[in-house]
Amino acid sequence: MASATEIYSGAVDKGLEGVVACTTKISSIIDATLTYAGYTIEDLAEHSNFEEVVFLLWNNRLPKPNELEQLRKDIASNIKLETELVKVLKTIPTKNIHPMAWLRTAVSLMGLYDSQAEATTPEGRRAVAIRLTSKMGQLVSAFERIRMGKEIIEPVKEKSVAWNFLYTLKGKEPETDLVKIFDTCLVLHADHELNCSAFASRVTSSSLSDIYSSVVSAIGALKGPLHGGANEQVMLMLKKIGSLEKAKSWIKDALDNKEKIMGFGHRVYKNGDPRAKILATMSEKLTKKMGEGHWYEMSKLIDDTVQSEKGLLPNVDFYSATVYYSMGIPIDLYTPIFAVSRISGWLAHIFEQYSNNRIYRPRGEYTGNRNLKR
Ligand code: COA
Repeated sequence: MASATEIYSGAVDKGLEGVVACTTKISSIIDATLTYAGYTIEDLAEHSNFEEVVFLLWNNRLPKPNELEQLRKDIASNIKLETELVKVLKTIPTKNIHPMAWLRTAVSLMGLYDSQAEATTPEGRRAVAIRLTSKMGQLVSAFERIRMGKEIIEPVKEKSVAWNFLYTLKGKEPETDLVKIFDTCLVLHADHELNCSAFASRVTSSSLSDIYSSVVSAIGALKGPLHGGANEQVMLMLKKIGSLEKAKSWIKDALDNKEKIMGFGHRVYKNGDPRAKILATMSEKLTKKMGEGHWYEMSKLIDDTVQSEKGLLPNVDFYSATVYYSMGIPIDLYTPIFAVSRISGWLAHIFEQYSNNRIYRPRGEYTGNRNLKR
């Protein structure tokens, strides 16, 4: 009997490297240039904001002023977590639970309280998308408040997703420049072509399953240290190294032991991740401003060492770690923050998949036993 690779006359593409699985208009990576619907990430980081990027990713064009206003209004009227949901969230475990595991569960629970969860009309699906995008940050800050035994804080309707995340996390109005930095982080993380979690969301939606199921699949994929989980691991590594003096030898030893250095390397970018360059500048400025400059200096030395020893460049997760650290955000919330932004990209991918669907069903090359009898 012919094997799968014989039928398809190819070799096994481990990790699907180089496989083009769909067409997309959402974002593109060409050499070291990342664009969202045709706009470079540098342009968007400087001149756009998260809400505008949400519209861009969902509509493949920038919003007119009234359209952006409407989106902001829709987000504002959906941003507060419903009382019923909060009641249930307070009953699920937070102790010794990774925030990504909690978030995965919380989003799934949220679906049970959403009467439009199974919607198949464009209007119904947009309503679900608005709710998920508005509330993801509120779920993350609620997790932090619940585990610390603090009251959940109500978001302020007139404010942005970034402002409300920082406000409800810390319980005090955030400084304007910190809101701008955090908003830029949300812009930078919003989408990234067919990354592991976007692909997971598309695989689930390709069976014509609902949006919540697709997003839960994506959160599960983002959680892993080879994907979104790397930003948390970067900060833990910096803390483990402890000082600038130890950084170079620590990295050399790790590389000699064939360990992976978190925040370096990329499947697609071989000449550097453009988001890492923007985040490196942000990290340098912010760590210095907050009196935490040694974290940037250590990161820069690690960056130089990994480049010279292994020829690998930093990815989005490397310098975002010290940006979040300087903002006083708990380390294990870095990956959930990724989800606060990436929900916009996942939803764009889910919509695109629904609009041009064929179920994902690759083949596996069978390498197990044959012709056995019991
Ligand atoms: N540190 C040390 N070596 C690394 C490395 C890293 N961060 N990333 C890749 N390499 C090495 C691998 O060990 C491998 O070396 P080998 O050929 O001698 O075995 C080679 O580079 C290719 O790596 P591979 O893991 O096959 O690349 P990939 O395309 O499958 O994986 C990543 C890409 C991003 C998962 C990988 O670079 C990685 O694990 N990075 C660290 C985690 C991370 O930062 N993830 C966030 C991504 S945005």
